[in-house]
Amino acid sequence: MKSYYNSFFSKLDNKDYIDFFSNYLRDLGFDYRKFLKLDYKSKQEPCKDKKLLLEKLREEIGDCKRCDLYKTRTNIVFGVGNPCSRIMFIGEAPGEEEDLRGEPFVGRAGRLLDKMLESIGLSRRENVYIANVLKSRPPDNKISLCPESIPKCLPFLLKQIEIISPKIICCLGSVAVNALLKQNEQITKIRGKIYDYNGITLIPTYHPSYLLRNPIAKKEAWEDFKKIKILLKRLEEEENV
Ligand code: URA
Repeated sequence: MKSYYNSFFSKLDNKDYIDFFSNYLRDLGFDYRKFLKLDYKSKQEPCKDKKLLLEKLREEIGDCKRCDLYKTRTNIVFGVGNPCSRIMFIGEAPGEEEDLRGEPFVGRAGRLLDKMLESIGLSRRENVYIANVLKSRPPDNKISLCPESIPKCLPFLLKQIEIISPKIICCLGSVAVNALLKQNEQITKIRGKIYDYNGITLIPTYHPSYLLRNPIAKKEAWEDFKKIKILLKRLEEEENV
C-alpha cells in the first residue's frame, strides 16, 4: 500500500493538488506526509521564503544613491536565477548591456558564461543564481575608478549569499574572490584552489571577459567547471540518501 501511495503522489507535481489532498487527509486525522516520509513542504517553502527575502532586499536597495554610480547607471542589476540554487556565480559589476537590461551577464561575456554553464548541465534560470559585487555599472566598466563603491555595495551581495545559502560559490574573476575573502590577490595565483567562505565551498575561476581576451585560459576554466560538476553531483547524491 505504501508503494501504491508513493507512486500515486509522486506523479502529482501540482502543489494545489497536493495541498488539497494533504488538507483533506489531515482533516481526517491522517498526515500522509509523515506516513510516506514525503517532505514536499520543506522543499518548497524555503524557496518561497528565499524569493520573498530577496524581493525585500531589492526593495531595501531602492533607487540606490549610496555611491556616485547612480549618476551614470540606467538600471540596478540585482541578480538572476533560482533562489534555491546550490550554486551561485559572482561577477564584478554590470557592463553596458547589463545596465540597459537590468540583468547580470547578458552581454558577450554573459553568452560565454551561459555556454559554460550549459556544458555542465546548468542554466541561469533553473539551477544557478548569478549576481555581481557591484549592482550599478561603473563608468567605462572600470571598477578600479570607483573603489569606494565596493564597501557600500558588498553588504547587499553578502545578504544575497546569506539568503540563498548556496553550497558552492564560483567567483568569476579576482574582484569577487577578493571582496569575499578580504584579500588582494591576482586570479592567476588563486584559481585552481578551493577556498572556504563561511562554510561554503568557494571556487575561483577566470572572468568570462578575461576568457574572451585570453582564449587559451579556457582550458583551465573548463577544469574548474568540471570540478563544479563533480561537487554538485556529490551534493545531489548526498541529498538523495
Ligand atoms: N561582467 C560582470 O562581472 N558582470 C556582469 O554582469 C557582466 C559583465
